[in-house]
Amino acid sequence: MMLAVAAFLLFALPSANAVPIYTTLPLPPGTGGPKSVAFDLHGGFIDFAFTAETRNKTFCDGRNATADAEVGLIGGRPLGIAFNSTQFLYICDAYLGLYAVSPLGGRATRLASSAEGAAIRSCNGLDVDPKTGAVYFTDASANYLLSNATQAALNEDRTGRLLRFDPRTGQVAMLARELSGPGGVAVAGDSSYVLITEFIGGTVKKFFLTDSRANTIQTLLNIASASTIRRTAGGEFTVTERVRPFTHRALRIDANGTVMANVSIGGPYNDVNVVTGVQIYGLFAYVGSLYADFVGQVLGLF
Ligand SMILES: *[C@@H]1O[C@H](CO)[C@@H](O)[C@H](O)[C@H]1NC(C)=O
Ligand SMILES: *[C@@H]1O[C@H](CO)[C@@H](O)[C@H](O)[C@H]1NC(C)=O
Ligand SMILES: *[C@@H]1O[C@H](CO)[C@@H](O)[C@H](O)[C@H]1NC(C)=O
Ligand SMILES: *[C@@H]1O[C@H](CO)[C@@H](O)[C@H](O)[C@H]1NC(C)=O
Ligand SMILES: *[C@@H]1O[C@H](CO)[C@@H](O)[C@H](O)[C@H]1NC(C)=O
Ligand SMILES: *[C@@H]1O[C@H](CO)[C@@H](O)[C@H](O)[C@H]1NC(C)=O
Repeated sequence: MMLAVAAFLLFALPSANAVPIYTTLPLPPGTGGPKSVAFDLHGGFIDFAFTAETRNKTFCDGRNATADAEVGLIGGRPLGIAFNSTQFLYICDAYLGLYAVSPLGGRATRLASSAEGAAIRSCNGLDVDPKTGAVYFTDASANYLLSNATQAALNEDRTGRLLRFDPRTGQVAMLARELSGPGGVAVAGDSSYVLITEFIGGTVKKFFLTDSRANTIQTLLNIASASTIRRTAGGEFTVTERVRPFTHRALRIDANGTVMANVSIGGPYNDVNVVTGVQIYGLFAYVGSLYADFVGQVLGLF
């Protein structure tokens, strides 16, 4: 019986005309806005970890920390998350900075709240290099908090930074500045570059880490409102694009920005669910969003 199910899934996936099947995975009560998704070895959602030392569940749960800085500064607003190879979870908290929490969860430890002497005001995208343990993350703006992202976009803010935390030294290095709303980062499988997205500038950019091009940056693609970007098991990347407010498409691109797939995101994603990204894990694609109270799980998206 198990085998029959597996055979059906494998058959259904590659078919170009298959209609994607959407499932919604509800989050625990009072929580929402799953901007990004990371996987450990257990299934299902639990209340796992928190950033703000003084977080008060009664005050914070069910409130809109994305739009309300008062709530965010008290309770935190995790945006980018990723596990390292020893199952520590790194968290970019929009209002509070960079954190890590052990595999047991609970209160996360703050690792950085500034870089190069300037406060991290809007921690956003994050990825861990599984080989080196280096943590790449972005500070979306030096001027605007997450709650002011709309004003930041209207004023075409260009004060974002790409940063790297080294777990061996505890130091944060600044890799690139003058970015326009860097909201996502993904490390290459061979550690030779990172891709970043700019949700204000509307780009996917490549920052080289090695060889003669090290520390140079190149625009690969122009796409509107790209946020979370993730690497696939096959070494490609997935990202979403807004085509109309708020109609989104999921893209799979290669290391040079060539678009390998470009499909509509449907199902439960509509005006109220600002899509932030898509990530492939196993047979499914998982859709992140800024306000929804569920994670979308899609079979046969690409
Ligand atoms: C938590 O927040 C609630 C609601 O605002 C408040 O009544 C309570 O006193 C707070 N608890 C602590 C420990 O601050
Ligand atoms: C949070 O606030 C934003 C901006 O005002 C709004 O678009 C969104 O629907 C709100 N989300 C929730 C869950 O209240
Ligand atoms: C994973 O992260 C934790 C917390 O920063 C760190 O202590 C540990 O060394 C990291 N593991 C690896 C393999 O980098
Ligand atoms: C951020 O938004 C608040 C509320 O809309 C506004 O009062 C404040 O001036 C804004 N700050 C900036 C830097 O735009
Ligand atoms: C990207 O372009 C370079 C230079 O043209 C080429 O060597 C490399 O194979 C390309 N990578 C992919 C994934 O297409
Ligand atoms: C993806 O497809 C949509 C609809 O055809 C199109 O508007 C958009 O430009 C495409 N995106 C890219 C990056 O090719």
